[in-house]
Amino acid sequence: MPDSPPPIYLDNAATSFPKPPAVAETMHRLIQEVSLSPGRSAHRFSLAASRVIFETRELVAAFFGCPDSSRVVFTSNVTEALNVGIFGLLKPGDQVLTTGMEHNSVMRPLRHLEKARGIVLSILPTDSTGAIDPDDIPKRLNAKTRLIIINHVSNVTGAVADLGAIGSRKGEALLMVDAAQSAGVFPLDMEAFGIDFLAFTGHKGLFGPTGTGGFLLRKGIMAAPLTMGGTGSNSELEEQPQMMPDCYESGTPNTLGIGGLAAGLEFIRSTGRETIRRQEEHLTRLLLAGLHQIKGITVHGPPASANRGSAVSLTMAGRSVADLAFQLDRQYGIMARGGLHCAPAAHRSIGTFPQGTLRLSPGFFNTEAEIQTALNALDRIHSES
Ligand SMILES: Cc1ncc(COP(=O)(O)O)c(C=O)c1O
Repeated sequence: MPDSPPPIYLDNAATSFPKPPAVAETMHRLIQEVSLSPGRSAHRFSLAASRVIFETRELVAAFFGCPDSSRVVFTSNVTEALNVGIFGLLKPGDQVLTTGMEHNSVMRPLRHLEKARGIVLSILPTDSTGAIDPDDIPKRLNAKTRLIIINHVSNVTGAVADLGAIGSRKGEALLMVDAAQSAGVFPLDMEAFGIDFLAFTGHKGLFGPTGTGGFLLRKGIMAAPLTMGGTGSNSELEEQPQMMPDCYESGTPNTLGIGGLAAGLEFIRSTGRETIRRQEEHLTRLLLAGLHQIKGITVHGPPASANRGSAVSLTMAGRSVADLAFQLDRQYGIMARGGLHCAPAAHRSIGTFPQGTLRLSPGFFNTEAEIQTALNALDRIHSES
């Protein structure tokens, strides 16, 4: 084994790496060529910055099947987007239907509002792979159900929620989707799936930089904003403007990051989302097939034959997942994540709490050879244990 093995990045569920070269090139060009403060002044640099924001909004709207780009709001990540929706839409006494697979970006604000506003949570059970049954939804709806919050693709097991089936069973409730792991890879169409609030992060499957994300809000729905301040519009008012998207975008935005996000979206458009999905699926199947050959490894999640995301969770008999992740990195140059992946609820649902799992998450830029190297490393770790 070489002293310093070449690095292999298998933590794309945390953030995608590498990014398409155009992302860095665009950001490099923008920071050198324009001043990046949009909508505040009428000079050419400010107008150029406004154009970056507007064009990215249009790209995001088209990408998620939203007919009106003013319904696209930029935030610094999906966590902030989900917080705007959860805090802004829920009133005391509202019921929320959610799943046992949610990230803490959803669970923490919900648990807070249980105490602070007396909201009532109803948590849909999952099977051992993290899948929910959409037929459980109508049984739990009542007149107080304001929101259904669904993690589209699990960051722990890769389980995929059937949004079409869920959207058609939502009744009078609003459907909020956490698309952190699915955006850029899985089909996501607001109209087709009946999504009312779609929250995305820019730095995973959309190939943008960290510090980008946002949400799309169906026409006719308003959530109270979380932050208020300068928007560059209606400056004569001391009250927050009501119009979209300004009412949610107070303060100078991350124009640089949003420009990088546009380059990520362009990359997906030119490569083809389905091509990306097929490559990730191929690598995930290869990984799963190899893992099943290694004695002592248990995979927690849907089988390779299922429609699943690329997050693959495993445990190895007699080994702590933290140690496994450490050894993979230090000895083999393989970057993976061990632990609870910010989703303790998901681990409770699949029976891996409190230790968690080792998560390997291939991305579009990984190769078959890298997957094989990771499998060889795990096999060796197991046989030496
Ligand atoms: C399902 C899910 N929701 C929310 C998040 C939070 O993403 P971010 O840190 O970009 O807000 C993640 C990412 O870790 C995730 O996988």
